[in-house]
Amino acid sequence: MILDIINKKRIGEELSYQELDYAFNGYLNGDVADYQMSSLLMAICINGMSDEEIFALTKIFIDSGDVLDFSDIPGIKVDKHSTGGIGDKTTLVIAPIVASLDIPVVKMSGRGLGYTGGTIDKLESIPGFRIDLTDQEIIKQVHEIGLVVTGQTADLVPMDKAIYALRDVTGTVSSIPLIASSIMSKKIASGADKIIIDIKVGNGALLQSRDDANKLSELMIKIGEVYQREVRCIISDMNVPLGKCIGNSLEVLEAIDVLQGKEENNNFVKLCHELATEMVSMGKEISKKEASQLVIDAIQSGKAYQKFLEMVTHQNGNIKGIKVSSQMVPIKAKSSGVLKKINALELGKISLALGAGKVYKNDKIDYTVGIKLEKLVGDTVKKGDVLATLYVKKNVPDIKLDDIFTIR
Ligand code: URA
Repeated sequence: MILDIINKKRIGEELSYQELDYAFNGYLNGDVADYQMSSLLMAICINGMSDEEIFALTKIFIDSGDVLDFSDIPGIKVDKHSTGGIGDKTTLVIAPIVASLDIPVVKMSGRGLGYTGGTIDKLESIPGFRIDLTDQEIIKQVHEIGLVVTGQTADLVPMDKAIYALRDVTGTVSSIPLIASSIMSKKIASGADKIIIDIKVGNGALLQSRDDANKLSELMIKIGEVYQREVRCIISDMNVPLGKCIGNSLEVLEAIDVLQGKEENNNFVKLCHELATEMVSMGKEISKKEASQLVIDAIQSGKAYQKFLEMVTHQNGNIKGIKVSSQMVPIKAKSSGVLKKINALELGKISLALGAGKVYKNDKIDYTVGIKLEKLVGDTVKKGDVLATLYVKKNVPDIKLDDIFTIR
């Protein structure tokens, strides 16, 4: 039977709900082997899926675990997802902004994938911060402070965990139908009423073209319609890292600076503003113009930062204990000119080599290492200026300056 299903997809035919259910639930309960599911995933990657197949797969994913119910919490619950990028710490900034404006936010975040860091790893760099709240603790905290950022509970779409791990090692991550069902199943199971999705495009992202990002966006909006959830997507650049810092503690400290209004208007600050504005506009059902002003006020009044501190305290974190490595290595410019490009992917690789992410499943992350950009795209640079500072522990990777910084 599984062979018939694989063959059907291999020749580009549509699979029924029953066939998808048989294959994917069979994989989860051990009746379908890794190599058979890998083969089916590759056939899906190559031949795509119809909308009906994608809706069926999303339902099968959702039904594999618990669905959280926040209907007794007043207000529209808004959630956000990013397809992942280098230096992407937006959740740390926008979740407190939105929650400080009385829109409840429950955000279940993930760990890093490939070269991209995960919000949960970043939060773990705050000593004591709990990322393993139970369903009951999540519900209690939303009632108390209107904000939770935690890891996905074990029972939230367990099928995605199993399939994602297999996709990660079988070259099947970048399939648009598979990304759409993976993301949307988790968002719907997490109980949000409205969802904003940040689709990243560029060399440091899963998707490399705007066309693919548009297709993914249309698909996720359609899945949202099936479940009566408003979904908005923005498409953002991931050829350049977001903001100045890459690496867990450094990124948390950068997010705190943004929440305190200390950062100038760089690409990270702009993206946070755009995403928070969308969420506030959805959560309060107001225009983007009105929402944008509320977002600015939330930062300027200190309300957003206070909300962040409340969350850290509720989840046992000690913000004063955040540490960065004291061993620093400056990276200096070899020529003068204007900084035209900073290669996100290359910096992602360096950050991984420094120990800020995992190369193998059992690696331990070093929260204190990372990269701080001292110059950003558009800045004028003189030969000998420090372009970036590496915060290192043991490994100082070989740096090929010209692959990272383009100065003309
Ligand atoms: N993020 C997800 O959660 N799933 C994917 O498949 C890709 C990005």
